[in-house]
Amino acid sequence: MKKISLALGILIGYLPFSAADCNQLHALLPGKVFFEPSEIYNASISSYFPLQGRLSPTCILRPESAKDVSLAVKTLARKRSTHFAIRSGGHSPNHGFSNIDDGVTIDLRSMNDIALSKDWKIARVQSGAVWGDVYPVTDQVGVSVIGGRGGTVGTGGFITGGGISAFSRRRGWGCDNVVNFQVVLASGEIVDANAAHNKDLFRALKGGQNNFGVVTRIDLMTHEQSPFLGGAILYPKEAFDATLDAFTEYMNRSTFDPDELAELSYTYVGGDQSFSLLLNTFHSGSVQSPNSLQRWTSIQPQISSTVRTTNMSKKLQPSSCKVYADLKRVMYGTTSVGISPTIMKKAYTLWEAAVNDTLSRISGMNSAFIIQPTPPPPKSFANSLGFGNAAVPEADSVIVLLAHNWDSEADSKVVEDRTYELIREINNAAADEHVEERFRYLNYAASKQKIFDGYGQASKAFLRKVARKYDPDGVFQRQVKGGFKVF
Ligand SMILES: Cc1cc2nc3c(=O)[nH]c(=O)nc-3n(C[C@H](O)[C@H](O)[C@H](O)COP(=O)(O)OP(=O)(O)OC[C@H]3O[C@@H](n4cnc5c(N)ncnc54)[C@H](O)[C@@H]3O)c2cc1C
Ligand SMILES: *[C@@H]1O[C@H](CO)[C@@H](O)[C@H](O)[C@H]1NC(C)=O
Ligand SMILES: *[C@@H]1O[C@H](CO)[C@@H](O)[C@H](O)[C@H]1NC(C)=O
Ligand SMILES: *[C@@H]1O[C@H](CO)[C@@H](O)[C@H](O)[C@H]1NC(C)=O
Ligand SMILES: *[C@@H]1O[C@H](CO)[C@@H](O)[C@H](O)[C@H]1NC(C)=O
Repeated sequence: MKKISLALGILIGYLPFSAADCNQLHALLPGKVFFEPSEIYNASISSYFPLQGRLSPTCILRPESAKDVSLAVKTLARKRSTHFAIRSGGHSPNHGFSNIDDGVTIDLRSMNDIALSKDWKIARVQSGAVWGDVYPVTDQVGVSVIGGRGGTVGTGGFITGGGISAFSRRRGWGCDNVVNFQVVLASGEIVDANAAHNKDLFRALKGGQNNFGVVTRIDLMTHEQSPFLGGAILYPKEAFDATLDAFTEYMNRSTFDPDELAELSYTYVGGDQSFSLLLNTFHSGSVQSPNSLQRWTSIQPQISSTVRTTNMSKKLQPSSCKVYADLKRVMYGTTSVGISPTIMKKAYTLWEAAVNDTLSRISGMNSAFIIQPTPPPPKSFANSLGFGNAAVPEADSVIVLLAHNWDSEADSKVVEDRTYELIREINNAAADEHVEERFRYLNYAASKQKIFDGYGQASKAFLRKVARKYDPDGVFQRQVKGGFKVF
């Protein structure tokens, strides 16, 4: 074996000593395995959203089909000591969730086909595609999908973790708009999971992310969608009180509008020590009036506004072309709270205090406190997120995302500790007001958060059962190190 490795190593140039697994893959999938130093290897490493995503895998596999993935998984699963990572858009800020040191990274980005069914009712998207490539295809024929609001976000991680889109207050989570997943199991078998076949796997993948297999294709329901009102408004700090009141009112059941999605990002910019609010808002209903977003457009003062008639392709254009020039360390953390007349201001103030007492002292710190409504659960089937179908989180539950970026690894522990503490403080404030919530959104969570406990014991037990059934040897539990694990 070693001799073969060496021989191959000489053939293709330099190979690290511990590259036996990679050599084997290279022999099976010639031209699709990349080593350092090479342009394709480098391009993959430098394409991660957060700086800490830039790890050094022994090799990177760029599969071009489900068959390639199948061959790779079958090969990698043979040896327990082999570790690998699965990567779609590379946007997870958690260390090692979609890249790995000393192991193989399966970078799915060459698998980025996007095809509409003849009747335009289904969009078949390979899991290496990013949302910025999906919307131009759907917008063109007057339909849309429940996808990301950032062009470079991957379809694979977004959908399997839940997925909140511009249309989610009416149409729910991205995962609940999937009609079929094509999945490569630990055995290498390529299966479909849908309402008729592998129903349990279908449900588990809606919120269970990388615990069961490598998703290679996602078939998404489309919905008719004409251009809609949407955009961003930037407010200075003087407007914060009014915007927090407006958000509380927006969450109130008595004024509930399923077509209106608002995401409020209160941001501290360390460079000039300033606070501002970036509001991203959409009104996607078929009846459009300039008053649809008046709740927000009427609040003054504003620094700027881009609210206008738009579509998702246009909305995502700048970020799709984004060069990762401002690359930094990134951390996300999340909690969920029910709405009450005063909880949003209390939670906001706790974040501002954390900025004042700790985060503002970190070099290069930008920190955001981001709030938006929780999407509704499906009414006639189940996902894994643990909401009963009678729940109406779209009207009374708020997802809080704490997002920071900063310069130096030396400051990471301080940032992380303060973020976990802030989450506890917000939860305590919510408990005081009797609006504490169990759910934590996987795609916004920090690595130490207990996501599957947040789905509830029944859902967690279900996910474990499905993992045991489809992956009896625990390949996706033990060999795929990164990600939130059900065991
Ligand atoms: C700029 C930005 C904008 C965002 N906007 C939104 C938004 O509008 N709405 C929202 O809900 N979230 C949003 N997010 C969060 C985003 O949904 C998560 O970060 C998501 O996990 C990213 O998916 P990815 O494929 O890019 O990530 P990756 O880092 O590639 O993957 C994340 C996790 O999913 C697993 N995974 C990926 N692909 C597969 C697959 N094919 N099969 C099995 N497992 C897989 C990986 O192993 C990894 O553990 C945003 C994040 C950023 C950084
Ligand atoms: C890859 O990146 C490394 C480190 O940044 C650099 O030294 C090397 O020249 C690059 N190699 C290629 C082939 O681009
Ligand atoms: C999206 O909107 C832009 C600007 O309004 C327009 O130029 C473009 O044609 C639209 N795209 C589609 C596919 O409708
Ligand atoms: C919703 O609005 C009603 C009527 O204005 C008010 O009494 C109630 O407190 C509001 N609820 C919240 C959560 O703000
Ligand atoms: C944060 O500091 C600013 C400036 O000193 C002060 O005005 C504000 O009240 C502080 N906020 C909190 C929540 O402590």
